[in-house]
Amino acid sequence: MNTIFPTDKILLRADKEKMLKQRGIAIWMTGLSGSGKTTIAIALEQELHKKGLLTQVLDGDNIRTGINNNLGFSDIDRTENIRRIAEVTKLFVNCGVITICCFVSPTEEIRNIAKTIIGPTDFIEVYVNTPLEICEQRDVKGLYARARKGEVKDFTGISAPFEASVNPNVEVKTNEMSVEESVKRILNKINI
Ligand code: ADX
Repeated sequence: MNTIFPTDKILLRADKEKMLKQRGIAIWMTGLSGSGKTTIAIALEQELHKKGLLTQVLDGDNIRTGINNNLGFSDIDRTENIRRIAEVTKLFVNCGVITICCFVSPTEEIRNIAKTIIGPTDFIEVYVNTPLEICEQRDVKGLYARARKGEVKDFTGISAPFEASVNPNVEVKTNEMSVEESVKRILNKINI
């Protein structure tokens, strides 16, 4: 019998992390729509990939169109959105994957739900702090203009609240820092 991996037991997280030669963590990016979360996540993932590390980016595009396609933007739906995302993230982290999550996650309460589900030691909160005026100027998806006209309801920053992250592990200000600088700051913090 193989004493290192007995066949009658589910492999442990530690077994998988040993195989991957990395530690699973969740890098949780919070910030307004258009703040730059996904742009930074993509650049961060590229850097980690170059170092031979296994990653997964989760964001609105792959979550709200799939597993969460029945959810909208009421308080209840946002909470359920984040709860499911955190559960999915936990599965990735338990497989040793560096999981980069890009969600508005607009309140301390919602971010704390994610942190509690994932576990505080595996949760790195990154506050992508871009002023509302800048996000609105960028308006990549045209949603701010539509929210101002009342065509999109409960829009974060316009007609629904965004609470600044109170005690993030890392804060990046995209109007003062390049994408590369933001990535560097996150990499320094996670010590990879
Ligand atoms: S969260 O509040 O539940 O964390 P999530 O990050 O999944 O939000 O989705 C936010 C994205 O959905 C935004 O970047 C934007 O493109 C889109 N969106 C559509 N309607 C809204 C809305 N009412 N409020 C915020 N974002 C919206």
